Parts: sequence; structure tokens; C-alpha cells
Amino acid sequence: MAGPRLLALLLLTCCARCAASGGKPSNIILILADDQDVYLGGMTPMKKTKALIGDAGATFVNAFTVTPLCCPSRSSVLTGRYPHNHEVRNNSLSGNCSSALWQSGPEASAFPVYLSKLKYQTFFAGKYLNQYGKKGAGDVGHIPPGWDQWNALVGNSQYYNYTLSVNGKEQKHGDSYESDYLTDLITNRSLHFLEDRSPQHPFFLMLSPPAPHSPWTVAPQYQKEFSAVKAPRDGSFDKHGKDKHWLLRQPVNPMPESSLNYLDSAYRKRWQTLLSVDDMVELLVKKLDSIKELDNTYIFYTSDNGYHTGQFSLPIDKRQLYEFDIRVPLMVRGPGIKPNQKLQAPVLNIDLAPTILDISGTNLSSVNVDGQSFLSQMAPSLRNGTARPFFLVEYTGEGHPTSDPSCPKLGPGLSECFPDCVCEDAYNNTYACVRTLNGQNNLQYCEFADSESFVEVYNLTSDPHQLENIVKKVDPAILQAMNQRLIKLQSCQGVSCRDNK
Ligand SMILES: *[C@@H]1O[C@H](CO)[C@@H](O)[C@H](O)[C@H]1NC(C)=O
Ligand SMILES: *[C@@H]1O[C@H](CO)[C@@H](O)[C@H](O)[C@H]1NC(C)=O
Ligand SMILES: *[C@@H]1O[C@H](CO)[C@@H](O)[C@H](O)[C@H]1NC(C)=O
Ligand SMILES: *[C@@H]1O[C@H](CO)[C@@H](O)[C@H](O)[C@H]1NC(C)=O
Ligand SMILES: *[C@@H]1O[C@H](CO)[C@@H](O)[C@H](O)[C@H]1NC(C)=O
Ligand SMILES: *[C@@H]1O[C@H](CO)[C@@H](O)[C@H](O)[C@H]1NC(C)=O
Ligand SMILES: *[C@@H]1O[C@H](CO)[C@@H](O)[C@H](O)[C@H]1NC(C)=O
Ligand SMILES: *[C@@H]1O[C@H](CO)[C@@H](O)[C@H](O)[C@H]1NC(C)=O
Repeated sequence: MAGPRLLALLLLTCCARCAASGGKPSNIILILADDQDVYLGGMTPMKKTKALIGDAGATFVNAFTVTPLCCPSRSSVLTGRYPHNHEVRNNSLSGNCSSALWQSGPEASAFPVYLSKLKYQTFFAGKYLNQYGKKGAGDVGHIPPGWDQWNALVGNSQYYNYTLSVNGKEQKHGDSYESDYLTDLITNRSLHFLEDRSPQHPFFLMLSPPAPHSPWTVAPQYQKEFSAVKAPRDGSFDKHGKDKHWLLRQPVNPMPESSLNYLDSAYRKRWQTLLSVDDMVELLVKKLDSIKELDNTYIFYTSDNGYHTGQFSLPIDKRQLYEFDIRVPLMVRGPGIKPNQKLQAPVLNIDLAPTILDISGTNLSSVNVDGQSFLSQMAPSLRNGTARPFFLVEYTGEGHPTSDPSCPKLGPGLSECFPDCVCEDAYNNTYACVRTLNGQNNLQYCEFADSESFVEVYNLTSDPHQLENIVKKVDPAILQAMNQRLIKLQSCQGVSCRDNK
């Protein structure tokens, strides 16, 4: 009896990918939505996804992005590194979004490269990085290493009238629902890939739908859904950010009717576009079941960053340090993950790469990542590991060198000034925060690189909506400790980013 039991134990401890089916490595699917919040009800419309992934596996109730903007966040997902290490600062080519330096540097050792070495069959479809496929970013001919099948959107999210790079060749699409709706096209191509795969090797799919990003183009059959839904009015909705950094002191408060109508309509259309993503998840799970791979496949569902609609009187966007923008949905099902788990351990988008590589059987000490595998959190029978008690969130503000012609009074340095000339970003909306989250403490400490060296501190235990900046009240010893921790994290690299002291 001892023999088989020892063997079983070895299999469990050494090789998560072999656990499910007697030696065959596990497949992995990563679905990355665009701008989907979790804090303001972003998952509510996705009933099938919650049932098929969340209820069938683990829901991480404390999942965060380390930077609340598409291109830097996606670069963190791909590399497992903080922005100060992958050096993608914003959504522009000059800020390294899909730039030549990104391509020759961090992208060349992104996690798909390692999966490919292990003979995973890899497939990508959807939005990649905001500047992908543009002139100056290698055009559609650039296929990042590690990918066997490549269907990437040129530029930022769109639902119709877009261009794809299909394995390096340009493919233009119009606006017929049946042949062009991007979310459905991603679904269809991934189903075909699964049909055509070779059963000898495991597969990895990364599906990156445009939803629920603007321009919120809804599939025809869903245009009448949620007609009575409005953005939630509780928490920090339309509260004046009077004790916050300067950008949060400028919005019109209370918000004008025009802003309210605009954000309610955006909120509703976001939910409607997500219904097509919900269909994607259902069809994928059905296909995996029919090809008998469901029990041997990990499915991750998450988003690049959160979103806000009216919080602190900011109409719509992301880019802020508050919970609504930095929290993201994260659900995972797969071998060794018990159903219906709600997990409290904080996990980050930089943890996706090491977790996926851990599942694949890659030796993590040979990979340069700042994040850590959370396989131990969701499948303790497969891995031992400890949760991190705190982490870094860092953001470099975007601006325009000239003033916005539609808001000439505002002057240069700002961006995203719509509607009603309320700006969502500026060069000096540049900040770094330590977020502490463990059994004892739920705190956030942030420093701005602006002319006021502004500091914001929140006690999320007593103030979950971050209504009161307690910087002037809190014990100075706590401020000092948080400041020291921030300095260390801002220059951390690899192991030192995981140092819990
Ligand atoms: C872009 O990345 C390169 C290294 O890949 C780095 O040297 C450069 O400073 C980065 N640019 C910015 C604006 O951070
Ligand atoms: C797609 O482009 C065509 C031609 O420019 C235009 O008429 C149509 O309105 C566009 N469709 C969408 C959904 O933007
Ligand atoms: C996706 O496949 C379905 C079912 O075959 C089809 O009805 C739909 O038109 C396809 N959509 C796209 C965008 O390819
Ligand atoms: C993993 O890699 C590290 C560093 O390259 C090496 O020291 C270690 O022996 C490897 N572990 C296994 C199990 O191969
Ligand atoms: C976890 O650690 C304990 C104690 O060291 C050990 O007995 C157990 O086998 C480990 N489990 C896994 C899955 O690594
Ligand atoms: C992006 O970052 C680069 C390098 O710091 C900067 O020159 C550029 O102005 C930034 N883009 C925006 C829109 O802020
Ligand atoms: C931030 O930048 C804007 C635009 O340049 C400027 O108006 C504002 O005074 C600056 N605020 C701080 C605190 O640096
Ligand atoms: C945060 O609030 C909780 C609950 O009111 C309190 O017990 C704790 O001491 C506070 N922490 C700090 C650092 O103020």
C-alpha cells in the first residue's frame, strides 16, 4: 500500500499539471476583460460565468491590479512584473506600450514563451496592447514570441470596423454582426482552435474581449437588456473629494444632469456588452466538456483594471488609486480547486504569470517575476504557500502638452476631460501606494509626485469607501512605517518584491 500512496503524494507535490489525469499536463485558459470593475457590480450581469467558473472553483474577493490602466496592466499580466520593472508607463508608444524596447526586452521573456518551450499549443485572440500593430510598433507583422496562433486587435478596443493581425497578416473587418462582432469572433476562433488542437500536447488560450471598454457597442440581441439599470448611488458616488489630491478637488459637485445621464448610459451599455462575454464562457465550457478536456483545464477569468461611474464626482474612467479602479474580478476553476470557495488572500495581476507557469510545471526560480503563484491559495492539496500581507500600486499620470480645445480654460498637462470638462487624469496624477491587507490591517498609504507631495491614507476597516483621508489623524509611527515600506517596494525586483518584512 505504501508504494502507490507515496507515488500519489509525489505527483501531488511535484506536478500540479499532472494531478488531474495521470500525467497529462493541464490546459490553461486566461480570459482578460477590458476595464471590467468588480467593485460597482461589474460581475452582476455575468450569471453564467459566475456559475461555470466561480461556483465551480474559487472566487478571489481581494484581487487587484498593480496599476489601473490598460497597457501598463496588461504588460504586468504578461510579464508578472511591476511597472517599474517592465517600464511600460502609459498607453503611448513613447511610454513603452508595445514599443521596440518592450518587444526586445520584457515581451521576449513573457510567460507564453515558457509555455511554448513546454510544448503547450498557444492561441491568442482579442485586444493585446493599446499600440499593438501600429506603425512604430512593428505593424501587424510583429507576432510576440511564444504564440502559435495569433489573432490580435490593432490598437485599442473596438467591436466593429477594426483590423486584426492574423498570424502576422492584416485582416480588416466591417460592421456586420454575423461576421465581425469582435467578442463573438474571439469565441468562434477559440472554439475552432480547440476542435483542431493536437490531443498530444496541452493548450493555452488567452482570450481578450473588448468588453466592457468604450465604445460599448452592444450585440443586437442584448440592446434592450437592463433598461432600468442605473449606476449605483451609494458609497462615494457624487461625494466631493475635498480632502484628496488636487485632481479629485476639481470635479463639479454635485454632478450636472448631463454627466449623470452619460454615466448611467455607459454603466448600462457596459453590462450589455458583457452578456456576449458571458456567452463566450458558456460556449467554451461546453466545448471543453464535449472534447473531454474540461476536468483537465484551468480557466481564469479577470480584467486589466477596474472602473468608476460617478465616484467622487468623476464621471467615467479608471486611473485612480481607489478601490473601484484597482480591484478586479478574479475567478478560477480547474484541477485541485474545490468548488464554491471565496478566498480572502490578496492576489495581484502580477501573480497570474507565475501561477500559470506553476500549473505548467515551470521551475519558478528560473523565471524573473515580481509576483507569486497563488496556486497554493486555491488548491492547497497541490501546493504550500503563504499569502502576502501588503503590496505596491503604482501609476504614471497621462496628460497632453497643450490644453484641450473643448476646455481651453483648463490649461495644459491634463487629459480625459469629458464630459463637462472634468478631467480624469494629468501628468501629476502620478502616485505610488502601499496597500496592506491581512487579518489585522486594511490600510492604504499613497504618495503623489505633484507640487504638493500630497499624501492620502485610508483605513478601509472603518471606511471602506475611502471617504476620509486620515493622514492628519493617524499615528505618525504608522505613516513612517508605511513610507519606508513604500520606498522599498518602489525599487523592488523579483524576490525582494515578495519580501514580507
Ligand atoms: C522604456 O523601456 C526601456 C527598457 O525596456 C527603458 O530603458 C526606458 O527608460 C523606458 N521608457 C520609459 C519612458 O520609461
Ligand atoms: C463602420 O464603418 C462604416 C464605413 O466607414 C460606417 O459607415 C459605419 O457606421 C461604421 N460602423 C460602426 C459600428 O462604427
Ligand atoms: C460565430 O459563430 C456563430 C455560430 O456559428 C455564428 O452565428 C456567428 O455569426 C459567428 N460570429 C462571428 C463574428 O464570427
Ligand atoms: C529550479 O531552478 C533553480 C535555479 O535555476 C535551481 O537551483 C533548482 O534546483 C531548480 N529546481 C528544480 C526542482 O529543478
Ligand atoms: C505542505 O507542507 C507540509 C509540512 O511541511 C507537508 O507535510 C505537505 O506535504 C505539504 N503539502 C504540499 C501540497 O506541498
Ligand atoms: C507617456 O510617457 C512618455 C514617457 O514618459 C511621455 O513622454 C508621454 O507624454 C506620455 N503620454 C501621455 C499621453 O501622457
Ligand atoms: C497638477 O498639474 C495641473 C496641470 O498642469 C496643474 O494645474 C496643477 O496645479 C498641478 N497640481 C499639483 C498639486 O501639482
Ligand atoms: C482602523 O479602524 C479599525 C476599526 O475602527 C480600528 O480598530 C483600527 O485601529 C484602525 N486602524 C488605524 C491604523 O487607524
